Amino acid sequence: MDILNWKEMLCPYEQAVAELKLKFEYMKSEYKKLGLYCPIESISGRVKEPSSILGKAKKKGIPLDRIEEDIEDIAGVRIICQFSEDIQKAISLIRRHDGYDFTIVEERDYITNTKPSGYRSYHIIIKYPVSSVMGYKEVLAEIQIRTMAMNFWAVTEHTLNYKYKGHMPEEIKQRLKNCAEAAFNLDNEMSTIRNEIMYAQRVNKRMDNLTSNIIDNIQNMYFNLKLSEMDKINTQFVELWNKGDIDELKKFSDMLDKMAESYRG
Ligand code: GTP
Ligand code: MG
Repeated sequence: MDILNWKEMLCPYEQAVAELKLKFEYMKSEYKKLGLYCPIESISGRVKEPSSILGKAKKKGIPLDRIEEDIEDIAGVRIICQFSEDIQKAISLIRRHDGYDFTIVEERDYITNTKPSGYRSYHIIIKYPVSSVMGYKEVLAEIQIRTMAMNFWAVTEHTLNYKYKGHMPEEIKQRLKNCAEAAFNLDNEMSTIRNEIMYAQRVNKRMDNLTSNIIDNIQNMYFNLKLSEMDKINTQFVELWNKGDIDELKKFSDMLDKMAESYRG
């Protein structure tokens, strides 16, 4: 295979990576426009270097005329998520495109089935249609979905593997495995914090709704109550609100609901 053929062969892969990156970037901006939380934190992509393609073909005994069929990650896109929960959401987003923009060929869950190295990531292999001046072609591409912590680990391990050319000392391997577990624990710890943040947001929202309801009721009963009664209710409301106990505020709100109802009735 000469240099010119390599260039020609890799052209559609370059296009696939560029188009896929754009699609995911667009999804991100849609979430932003709608004011919604986006499960995708960042997107990157690359086309495998010819030397890496040759290296993988040699390692796996793939003949050069089978490279495009047997090496699935010549085109690679990586989706990084902030929290581990976001991974499932990102996977669902990708699956929604199945049959439209591309076809899913295979999914590999290295999160549930962690690799012996400690590697965690979710892989989706797709067949991507490329239309270019050279014609129509379908190429394989690999989408890797992982958290920031999983990515930190994988990038570091990859660099070390490269340094040791596949002959990593056992001691370093073991330390990397420990790091993978530390990264996993970090993800879990972050998730609990995230859940607490979400819970706090829900509590705040409930507090807002109760407050609005109480104020509406007080407003509606303005002409039915004596000034002293109104004063008492207002004072009680401010005291309860400052205390911040949502259950007590709910009881107070229910009481006012009934009271307002009696005046209406
Ligand atoms: P290779 O593992 O590269 O031989 O590819 P494969 O065809 O066996 O597929 P696999 O799903 O095992 O891996 C595909 C890609 O996942 C690799 O090219 C890497 O980007 C990544 N990957 C897989 N295993 C590891 C690992 O142990 N460490 C790191 N850093 N990356 C990995
Ligand atoms: Mg492998």
